[in-house]
Amino acid sequence: MKTIIEPFRIKTVEPLRHTTPEQRRLLLEEAGYNLFLIPAADILIDLLTDSGTSAMSTEQWAAMMRGDESYAGSDSFFRFREAVRNLTGFRHVIPTHQGRAAERILFSVLCRPGHLVPNNTHFDTTRANIEFTGARAVDLPIPEAADTQARIPFKGNMDVEALQRLIRETGPARIPLVMLTVTNNSGGGLPVSMRNIEDVHAVCRGHGIPLYLDACRFAENAYFIQQYEPGFAANSPKQIAQKMFSLADGCTFSAKKDAFANIGGFLCTNDDRLAEQETNLLILTEGFPTYGGLAGRDLEAIAVGLEEVLDPDYLRYRMASVTYLGRHIADNGVPIVEPPGGHAVYIDAGRMLPHIPRSQFPAQALAVELYRHAGIRSVEIGSLMFGDEARHELLRLAIPRRVYTQSHIDYVVEAILEVHERRDSLRGFQIVSQPKFLRHFTCRLRPL
Ligand SMILES: Cc1ncc(COP(=O)(O)O)c(C=O)c1O
Repeated sequence: MKTIIEPFRIKTVEPLRHTTPEQRRLLLEEAGYNLFLIPAADILIDLLTDSGTSAMSTEQWAAMMRGDESYAGSDSFFRFREAVRNLTGFRHVIPTHQGRAAERILFSVLCRPGHLVPNNTHFDTTRANIEFTGARAVDLPIPEAADTQARIPFKGNMDVEALQRLIRETGPARIPLVMLTVTNNSGGGLPVSMRNIEDVHAVCRGHGIPLYLDACRFAENAYFIQQYEPGFAANSPKQIAQKMFSLADGCTFSAKKDAFANIGGFLCTNDDRLAEQETNLLILTEGFPTYGGLAGRDLEAIAVGLEEVLDPDYLRYRMASVTYLGRHIADNGVPIVEPPGGHAVYIDAGRMLPHIPRSQFPAQALAVELYRHAGIRSVEIGSLMFGDEARHELLRLAIPRRVYTQSHIDYVVEAILEVHERRDSLRGFQIVSQPKFLRHFTCRLRPL
């Protein structure tokens, strides 16, 4: 059979509420054309993020009932730690309430003013947590990543030569760790090859610098390796993921992605002294080391999710569904970041709407129109989010895991193609009020 189906059936449903174009016009006006400020009940298909939005399985819900809420030494922690150790091989497993808490703890211990932290591409919380310590976050994507249209399979890779140059120029003492984000979210959700992880590992080893994975989407990355990297077709996604982790000295993890959990994260290391310092910080702000800011039931959901996400049938369907969306719009003329990523499709709004200058936020104009036209929420990743630092004007359509069916995706394709047809009529936006930090969350805009 050629048709790839959702490898699950649906037991609990959540109704979607339709709104009329006129209602959406008013909602947009009230929200200052900022989709973060629109109530979720007024969204038909929510592609704002794949983070914390997964549907949990019957096994996860059943495990949650087993949640042991003891303050110290809960059974749930031991099951969680076993699942993480089994996957990653790391000795110390520190639970946190989400990925950014793991980042804050790691960087507070390792980074100082004057330090540099290289990454293929830093996610925004990773960058912010590094820079909060006075260190500098440096992105080292491969040069091909600058071209949204280049179709190469491992476009999320780090530029290994650039890493070597940076180490030569600054000296290893100023680089407390190197990170690799798998998959590379800010770089289009594109994967990192095993070869690239091995090369970065070898450079780090040569200079005594620890290598960390920002492993939120490790399973999607492992699947890409199995499919597209020579030599891995016979390995299971789990074996590939285990090999990826074996090349690192530690990891940060947001369980809101590839663990199908609605909340949670962890930090891992094999370094006993580091683990002790991290645990001391954990107790200050997250909680006792056997729950770290999570309920016992959350630990249970993560433990089960980490197993489920590596199911080859699930990963095949996941990639097929994201690729289906990407190919159907791209093959009909919509410029996307090529090739489609593991968790999202990114439309290159700068190319699609060349008549709207960067200063008037073309990707926001597209996001607003997609909502007004069809009730679909997406997110601008461009000058509104990053200001002058933005490299491209992108609109991200992130696909929540196990939530939407084929017909939902068909509806999204249809809506995008209809908006694309009359793209010349879209107009830009101007900011009318904004907070000091992270303006895209709460700023208000007006159409020009
Ligand atoms: C690559 C990457 N790293 C870190 C994070 C932060 O995780 P959290 O949202 O759980 O704090 C995210 C979240 O989207 C991410 O995509």
